[in-house]
Amino acid sequence: MKIILLGPPGAGKGTQAKSISRKYSIPHISTGDIFRQNISLSTELGKEAKKYIDKGQLVPDELTISIVKDRLLKDDCKKGFLLDGYPRTVKQAEALDGFLAEHGSRLNLALLIAVPREFILERMTGRRVCPSCGASYHIKFNPPQQEGICDVCGSTIIQREDDTPETVSNRLDIYDKQTQPLIDYYKDKNLLSVVDGTYSINNVFKQISERLDLIK
Ligand code: AP5
Ligand code: MG
Repeated sequence: MKIILLGPPGAGKGTQAKSISRKYSIPHISTGDIFRQNISLSTELGKEAKKYIDKGQLVPDELTISIVKDRLLKDDCKKGFLLDGYPRTVKQAEALDGFLAEHGSRLNLALLIAVPREFILERMTGRRVCPSCGASYHIKFNPPQQEGICDVCGSTIIQREDDTPETVSNRLDIYDKQTQPLIDYYKDKNLLSVVDGTYSINNVFKQISERLDLIK
């Protein structure tokens, strides 16, 4: 199973990816998570990525493509993978196709979680994440059992630095300009499947499972 998850910021890619990864036993690869881990460790990659992420801009293609290629070469990706937040430009999509073809492989599905813009701001401003283990919550739609505390590891949960209304607005504009064209890119290849991301987290996962069970 080689799948990519498409959708605007706040669509629920990370939330659904965790459940998909568990159910279908494939690694969840989020470029956003890789960049954030590097930022928290103050690596050179983290310092470079932070310049763009803080403004809601995309990290340059060359850097992002090489990170994903390195990750896909790891053993755990042999049986499949789930990419969350990659590709985000046509150049990244072409690089992924080329890389998979070189390895005698190809994508099975591009899953778009469709959520209109008017839903996004409430999701982003209510999101809380755990800085220690990466678990993600929403103060209204998916609260932790104890307010402000991560269910998984007990750390204090925080807001992501790029979840301010101004940065979210930039990220949405960039999604419209640079990432939306991928919808047609994958439609033309007959790989696109769209789920309605405006329903509850459980309902969206049910829609996704129905699609994935067909290619299992
Ligand atoms: P990234 O971390 O990928 O951010 P994003 O794409 O903007 O998406 P988010 O993580 O914000 O949203 P999500 O869809 O995962 O939603 P979530 O499940 O958390 O990227 C961050 C930055 O890194 C980019 O801006 C860019 O700078 C850089 N970057 C990353 N990849 C790159 C690439 N390929 N190329 C270049 N640069 C790159 O859900 C959001 C909230 O809603 C949560 O609180 C959740 O609990 C809640 N929620 C989820 N589903 C539902 C539901 N069905 N109903 C109600 N609430 C819900
Ligand atoms: Mg995410």
